[in-house]
Amino acid sequence: MPTQKGLILPSKQGAFRVDTIPIPKPGSGEILIKVAATALNPVDWKIQAYGAIITHYPAILGSDIAGTVEALGPGVTGFASGDRVITQGMLNVNEHASFQQYTLGYADVTTQIPDDVSFEEAATIPLALATAALGLFNKHTPEKSAGLVPPWTEDGRGLYEDEPLMVFGGSSSVGQYVIQLAVLAGFSPIIATASPQNADYLLELGATHVIDRHLSADETLEEVSAITTAPIETIYDAVAIPETQNLAYDLLAPGGCLVLVLGDAIDKKKKRSDKRVVQVSGNTNTPDANRRLGRSLYSELTVLLEDGDIQGNLVEVLPDGLEGIIGGLARLRQGVSNVKLVAHPQETE
Ligand SMILES: NC(=O)c1ccc[n+]([C@@H]2O[C@H](COP(=O)([O-])OP(=O)(O)OC[C@H]3O[C@@H](n4cnc5c(N)ncnc54)[C@H](OP(=O)(O)O)[C@@H]3O)[C@@H](O)[C@H]2O)c1
Repeated sequence: MPTQKGLILPSKQGAFRVDTIPIPKPGSGEILIKVAATALNPVDWKIQAYGAIITHYPAILGSDIAGTVEALGPGVTGFASGDRVITQGMLNVNEHASFQQYTLGYADVTTQIPDDVSFEEAATIPLALATAALGLFNKHTPEKSAGLVPPWTEDGRGLYEDEPLMVFGGSSSVGQYVIQLAVLAGFSPIIATASPQNADYLLELGATHVIDRHLSADETLEEVSAITTAPIETIYDAVAIPETQNLAYDLLAPGGCLVLVLGDAIDKKKKRSDKRVVQVSGNTNTPDANRRLGRSLYSELTVLLEDGDIQGNLVEVLPDGLEGIIGGLARLRQGVSNVKLVAHPQETE
């Protein structure tokens, strides 16, 4: 059986180690991908630290896959050996996770990377873009999404012209995709919170206003009301700590929807029936309504990247292949600013 290196989490809250494991075989509708680059996400350190999400061990983590097509499973068309592709990894399905040298992708939610987009940039996209897209644009999951019309479809492009949108955590990986999708959807103004040193970057990405995230709640409310008096019916909280959630809820107009990336921590006393709060599930692989939106997104993603409508996050490449992910996750836990940490699994000793 052909083997590869993988980063293994042997047990709940155990210590990561690089080990030799079998290369998975693509089944029907699957593609075997040689992973050139994978990005690290907060969920990966949270799983190790808190023992959440993963139901069986040993586990392989990692949700962002950029690499080349190695082999096609039965029934897969539209891809050829050597194609540069991206897809999202799947937690709890080791053969589909990205912290290994070879992994599987589902062909219907995998797409080609344009020539001028690097593997590293592409690796920053799948999980965070999915989280932004599913939280805002999945009408099939009203309990997990604002349910707006996706801007990568003709109906949705520019549909929300002159409606305000606010994003907490604009410089986070997820927040940057929220901003870019909001631009395509026509929202204006697009108000982001971030540290001042990231303001110019977010303005270039399409935010119209950046508010210093260190301001008090009252100061933030004041800044927002100086920017717009229109009701803000769409707010995306990509930080989702109690402070941002409660402030976002205060800013949300009646009839509006607040999208959270983490569990609802809003003060129960202020809850009202005319403000919707949803928690996104950022996985385009689950065989449900998420997959349906994922297919739609992936069918347009190559063109969105070619046209520059969507660009990846800034990247820092970690040394030492899969081994480097261990230190990278420790850094991510401390917090990063406007950068995605990316590893090269093929550089594993
Ligand atoms: N529900 C899901 O399916 C799902 C999927 C993906 C991610 N998530 C969660 O979403 C969150 C974001 O993930 P990510 O990968 O986008 O994170 P990330 O890129 O690592 O986030 C780092 C950024 O967070 C910003 N930030 C931190 N505290 C902030 C605050 N109080 N206000 C505004 N910005 C703040 C920092 O901004 P500055 O440097 O500008 O200060 C920094 O740029 C994580 O908690 C993650 O676990 C959930």
